[in-house]
Amino acid sequence: MNTYVVGNLKMHLETCRLRDEYVKRLHELSQSLTSEQRSALFVCPPHVHLEKFVTKLPALTIGAQDAHHELRGAHTGSTSSNALKSLGVGCVIIGHSERRGAGESLETVCKKVQTALLSGLHVIVCVGFLSEGQDEESIIKSDVAAILEAITDVVPAHKHENLSFAYEPVWAIGTGKTPTTHHIQTIVLVIRKEVIRVLGDASKSLPVLYGGSVTTENAQQIVTESTADGVLVGGASLDPANLVQMIKMFNK
Ligand code: 13P
Repeated sequence: MNTYVVGNLKMHLETCRLRDEYVKRLHELSQSLTSEQRSALFVCPPHVHLEKFVTKLPALTIGAQDAHHELRGAHTGSTSSNALKSLGVGCVIIGHSERRGAGESLETVCKKVQTALLSGLHVIVCVGFLSEGQDEESIIKSDVAAILEAITDVVPAHKHENLSFAYEPVWAIGTGKTPTTHHIQTIVLVIRKEVIRVLGDASKSLPVLYGGSVTTENAQQIVTESTADGVLVGGASLDPANLVQMIKMFNK
């Protein structure tokens, strides 16, 4: 199985010049990747840049950072999963802690995952949004169960394979701090167990990624020792060379 690298560019690249420089550099660097390596590299720019990324980087999977839980309707400022799919976007990040911290509930996350999967997008759903003192393992277990139970009856089984989880402990995001690889492995296993319990053995290979202060220095150790299926990268993804270096390191 491939080991994935997902770059979350957040609200960065805030001018057209920065966007164009990034796209040009990533395009150049991605020429040195094999087709297998390219297929495991996902890049998620701000919505306003999606069309440019999709057009200029056709060999990579381009992702959005959110989508509305309804497919259509009067929702000012929101984006429909159907619109993303029709633009050529391949995946969407749902439930990032920077959105959960701004008031997005678990119930909304569940609905967004349903809608995006039904649209045919690959979904990377983030878990690990916790307040201090909460029991991490049990909260993550119940969040993962709620997300999976929300899709079982609504999303046809053949689309379940388009789901991935990302364990992103909120305190590790943008701080330079990471959990021990043993701890990441514990949570990765909690998530994998819930996937098998709710969706059954057929879904046992759903990817489980880790995100939070991943760099080219720590990425290999995190993936090897934690058994995560890849990484979700924020700050380090602002240099496309880092994404390309990681994907080469993981998929030799
Ligand atoms: P950093 O890699 O900047 O810690 O961000 C992680 C993240 O939020 C990816 O979604």
